[in-house]
Amino acid sequence: MLILGIESSCDETAGAVIKVDKTGCRILSEEISSQVCVHEAYGGVVPELASRAHLQNLPVVIGQIMAQAKVGYPDLSAIGVTRGPGLKGCLLMGASFAKGLCVAHGLPLVAVNHIEAHIHAALLDNPEVKYPFLGCVVSGGHTEIIEVKGLGNYRVVARTIDDAAGEAFDKSANLLGFQYPGGAALAKLADESKPMSFRLPKVMRGQEGFSFSGLKTAIALLIAREQPLNAATRGALAAAIQDSIVDALVSKMKDAVKQTGYRQVVVSGGVSANLCLRERAQRIRGVKIFFPHLAHCMDNAAMVAYLAALRFKEGQRDPLDISVLSRWPIEEVQA
Ligand code: KG4
Ligand code: ZN
Repeated sequence: MLILGIESSCDETAGAVIKVDKTGCRILSEEISSQVCVHEAYGGVVPELASRAHLQNLPVVIGQIMAQAKVGYPDLSAIGVTRGPGLKGCLLMGASFAKGLCVAHGLPLVAVNHIEAHIHAALLDNPEVKYPFLGCVVSGGHTEIIEVKGLGNYRVVARTIDDAAGEAFDKSANLLGFQYPGGAALAKLADESKPMSFRLPKVMRGQEGFSFSGLKTAIALLIAREQPLNAATRGALAAAIQDSIVDALVSKMKDAVKQTGYRQVVVSGGVSANLCLRERAQRIRGVKIFFPHLAHCMDNAAMVAYLAALRFKEGQRDPLDISVLSRWPIEEVQA
């Protein structure tokens, strides 16, 4: 089975072609066109500019990956696309493009949930993972721990009531003078710096769900107190910030493992590229931790194609008038 996947829920225009057979899943081609340069001047994603950039990039990206995969549209079994959650205008671009291709080439459409796709990115890269397991999605828009009982069978164990982990990284990075999105740059500086000459509070202990607002205030106050920043102070602050965000994530993962008893934990989403998080999560006792490859942590289309393949195999075919959903919590996803 050959599946074309399309992702356009935020500021990444991505396409991938995968082949799935009895031996497993092979990525024939994949491409991610990032819009960071469009949005960095504004310090965040500008939805209208993001939609326009998707409109420009989609034909180019999809044309390239089809050529690289050396397949034609008639060879495809189906087209998978992100239906939500995400920015409405951005989702509409990808979904409309996918629908157009389906009409033109008589192909079935499989519309998928972005969070569910992030979870399955780790399965794409670690085929030994089997349902059920604990999924932990840590990205720029989402921070949730999910009981993954099977395809389309989810229970949320914990989620954030305010910012996502990636936003906590990005907002702190902004206060340290990094350009948007900044999370990865802050992490790099933290990894290169002497650890822990600053202390931030251990947050979220004994509390249900995630909340980054208290930590954000503590970080802002600490950075303000240390102005003007020299290079060593900036590095030490980055290390303390990374330590506190990772500590909060890992402590919640431990709670969820204890509460549910699962022995496999899958961590995915942009923040799962964080090396400190990877190292500390791997130290959680009694569980096996799986991450996607670094290229599949951030938004990508291979994860969309892979989830679409699983759902296509289960018989999912979506009507071409299906709507996009800017809000679509994982527990509302149907099997
Ligand atoms: O999954 P993703 O591409 O987008 C969403 O679906 O939200 O995640 C992007 C987020 C950004 O906030 C980015 O700063 C963060 O992931 N990120 C990192 C790292 N790499 C990306 N945060 C911390 N450490 C990293 N190495
Ligand atoms: Zn994402």
